[in-house]
Amino acid sequence: MSVDRRNFLRRATAIAAGVGVGFSWQQALARSNRKEYATTNQSQESSGAPTMVSTWNHGMPANEAGFESLANGGTALDMIEAGARIVEADSTGQSVGLGGLPDRDGFVTLDACIMDHMQNAGSVCFVQNVAHPLSLARKVMENTPHVMLAGAGAEQYARELNMPNSPLLTEASKKAWKKWRVESNYAPKINIENHDTIGLLALDQKGRLAGGCTTSGVAFKMHGRVGDSPIIGAGLYVDGAIGGATATGLGEAVMKTVGSFLVVELMRQGAKAQEACEEAVHRIMKAMPVENLQVGYLALGKDGSVGGHAIHSGFNYALHRPDPEDSNSIVGQLIDASNG
Ligand code: GLY
Repeated sequence: MSVDRRNFLRRATAIAAGVGVGFSWQQALARSNRKEYATTNQSQESSGAPTMVSTWNHGMPANEAGFESLANGGTALDMIEAGARIVEADSTGQSVGLGGLPDRDGFVTLDACIMDHMQNAGSVCFVQNVAHPLSLARKVMENTPHVMLAGAGAEQYARELNMPNSPLLTEASKKAWKKWRVESNYAPKINIENHDTIGLLALDQKGRLAGGCTTSGVAFKMHGRVGDSPIIGAGLYVDGAIGGATATGLGEAVMKTVGSFLVVELMRQGAKAQEACEEAVHRIMKAMPVENLQVGYLALGKDGSVGGHAIHSGFNYALHRPDPEDSNSIVGQLIDASNG
């Protein structure tokens, strides 16, 4: 148990004692919520080739950072965090972290989550001025008995962790927002303003799976809107014994179909990673008009199998794994998931 977590539990117990509660909800949550890292579930581990997949072009630098972290002794979870941080810090991308397009009132609000092979999960949503929301989500997972912190509470926790107050609205994004405000017939552009996410999945050499998702959400959304990306089961789901899945695109469609959970459940029932992504996309297409919305799914099986599929063309993902002819080298490629 980490020192931070021990302190948190001590505080939680003290609060409960102060109001005369014999058995606190904090204790109950803490017991049920998080499996300790020291307890290794052997059935969810195997040795094999490490693999990392991440959505869109920015998946390339993300995966490279992930493998660098692995080379330095990191785990699948470290690969996810390292990859996310690269993209969150890139001011040229307008869908994640710094430089993300704001909501309709001009505020950049971020959503992120992370999950490991033991089904530990952490999430933050509607967070402002936090440069690395996925790192904050990891702290929620590792240091608190909760899964999700929202808005001001998440920001308060970031400050307690000495994460600096980081303004994220760049001049370029402010300009885009001002332009949007004067356009009368605005509709988000598919694959540009609607993709708004990086989803990452990693498998390390011990067979541990992890996943993450981080985004500034749909451009010019209503203030307060939260998408699929921080919702466990929607934007991300990992089951260490089966595989992981992540979603990108219009969060409302993903949330209504609990997309990432669906992909993993289909894999549990025997579908290949690719088949599961295709079925999850078809569920959306059956349920709602999709002319103006894009959703893409990416999946990574426990066996290293990979799948990706989207409603419309234009969705791609980066795949990195060791070169089969030289396991000391990592090969990365961008895969067009529109073609299955
Ligand atoms: N998929 C990200 C969002 O809809 O916010």
